[in-house]
Amino acid sequence: MARILLTGGAGFIGSHTAVALLGRGHDVVLADNFSNASRSVPARLKDITGVDCPVHEVDIRNTQAMQAVLAGGAFDAVIHFAALKAVGESEANPLLYFDVNVAGTLSLLTAMRHAGIGRIVFSSSATVYGAPEHCPIAEAAPLHATNIYGRTKLIMEDMIGDLVRTGMLSTAFLLRYFNPVGAHPSGLIGEDPRGVPANLMPYLCQVAAGQRDCLTVFGDDYPTPDGTGVRDYLHVMDLAEAHCAAVEVALGTYGTHAVNLGTGTGYSVLDLLHTFERATGLAIPYRIGPRRPGDAPSCYADPTLAKAMLGWTAKRTLHDMCQDSWHWQSLSAKARQAAEHGGSQAPTTAGAQLLA
Ligand code: UFG
Repeated sequence: MARILLTGGAGFIGSHTAVALLGRGHDVVLADNFSNASRSVPARLKDITGVDCPVHEVDIRNTQAMQAVLAGGAFDAVIHFAALKAVGESEANPLLYFDVNVAGTLSLLTAMRHAGIGRIVFSSSATVYGAPEHCPIAEAAPLHATNIYGRTKLIMEDMIGDLVRTGMLSTAFLLRYFNPVGAHPSGLIGEDPRGVPANLMPYLCQVAAGQRDCLTVFGDDYPTPDGTGVRDYLHVMDLAEAHCAAVEVALGTYGTHAVNLGTGTGYSVLDLLHTFERATGLAIPYRIGPRRPGDAPSCYADPTLAKAMLGWTAKRTLHDMCQDSWHWQSLSAKARQAAEHGGSQAPTTAGAQLLA
């Protein structure tokens, strides 16, 4: 069994990966600055797994603090999730994204070198393919950044690859996620974006919970079967299991490996919306709006390499993703209401109507 440090370990994908790693008997230590994660996550991980994970409250940009975490830890590998991930924010504040994502990764890699840790699994994104020319997208497709967030992912991939090439690192997996959604089936952990959600599933959940009036579908005139954008939605627990496979394979291999993580199937915005309605029994109010600038019509993975290298394929369905996202959303809405009103109330469905 391996001992693994998870930067950003209290975040959406980090926390689910912690559950999956603990379930496979690995030792897990979390490092997080809690800038975009709830302080309740470590306790919730204990509720789910029965394991009390050590947690370091630390910013990856603080190299000395990261050295202190890594030096005493005897880690076999690092899984590096800690990063900012909002496309619009990255265009509004590029320096922040270069600082947290690029300088933060440089700082982490410096600390890893100091501690003699040579294996990293990196949280990359399908954003590195920019506006893809063909779907499904294989790892050999051209790489291209269309925004600052994507640029930082490409720079981080290059930095890590160069360190493997020059021998400072032995092994790197660059995991290119497509569209992670869903939540742990317990409903205890999930995605909790601050402010107005930029992504489809959290927005849909907030409409269903009555926190927002209506979903705007960004365009219905794309060259796709129903005219709305097509994406490769992936259950976060499937994604978490892919990280377990990557870290286990990394322990016995060398070199840099970029691997797509997706189901290989594309669904449209309306497919997701109607599956969500069937999974939850709620009718979701929506309207068709203009296209969102920068959106590709279709984006879905060729997941062949993930199966060949990691022995991993996604198992959960779009229905599972909707059901688990809603379970998490409704439990957290209930908890919020209980906190606000000092009692327990059912979540409001002001925005959504119960289907007959
Ligand atoms: N969409 C809507 N309404 C919304 C939000 C989204 O119709 O309110 C549509 C988008 O136009 C798109 C689809 O839903 O067709 C999915 O949009 P998301 O914002 O959920 O996801 P993206 O595919 O745009 O972005 C994701 C990640 C990014 C990453 C990108 C490319 O969230 O971090 O994939 O890999 F950069």
